[in-house]
Amino acid sequence: MIEKAPIIQTPRLRLRTPGGQDAPRIAALCDDYAIAKMTTRMPWPYSQGDADGFVARCQVQDPRKDATFVIDHEDEGVVGVLGFFTPPVGHLEVGYWIGRPYWGRGLATEAAHGALAWARQDWRKKLVVAGHFADNPASGQVLIKTGFLYTGVVEHKPSTARGEPVPTRMMVWLA
Ligand SMILES: CC(C)(COP(=O)(O)OP(=O)(O)OC[C@H]1O[C@@H](n2cnc3c(N)ncnc32)[C@H](O)[C@@H]1OP(=O)(O)O)[C@@H](O)C(=O)NCCC(=O)NCCS
Repeated sequence: MIEKAPIIQTPRLRLRTPGGQDAPRIAALCDDYAIAKMTTRMPWPYSQGDADGFVARCQVQDPRKDATFVIDHEDEGVVGVLGFFTPPVGHLEVGYWIGRPYWGRGLATEAAHGALAWARQDWRKKLVVAGHFADNPASGQVLIKTGFLYTGVVEHKPSTARGEPVPTRMMVWLA
């Protein structure tokens, strides 16, 4: 039985399904080129309509293939997003962002750690891949700290915000 709206609790964070009430906050945090440029698909500038569309897509995702969470901090409210998604071709992938005011407090690591434990124990996934742009060592650190290993493969992934492909260091995590 796969839960439709799982909740993942970590020491400081609660990861839960995004709702319409989260869209203004997501829009405010995402309208930041420093975030968009490190992702493949986030548009920039980022509008309230982009956030509304994002939340709406999360609510119709297939819970066997995809799971997207807002990262809700006990004192700060929503500080970011983490999502697992199954591409049309290839393995389950994870991606995330944390709003700039909250960087450097270990929140991405804590969220990813909790999410991977859930993926292993509850979602019964065995393998997750991730890629970080070569000029984003902070994300590489998050992935290393949560047990990902470099495969040695560098792919050229598109970035909507940059408008050109970016060398992307691929990593893998095994349950
Ligand atoms: C990458 C990102 C998620 C990190 O979030 P965070 O909550 O600040 O991450 P954490 O605090 O858990 O860990 C960051 C790690 O990167 C390290 N780091 C930060 N800047 C770094 C740099 N320039 N070079 C090397 N390591 C760096 C930190 O020291 C820390 O590692 P440590 O705990 O071993 O010291 C956040 O900066 C972000 O959202 N960036 C934009 C979007 C993005 O990059 N998403 C991921 C796409 S693959």
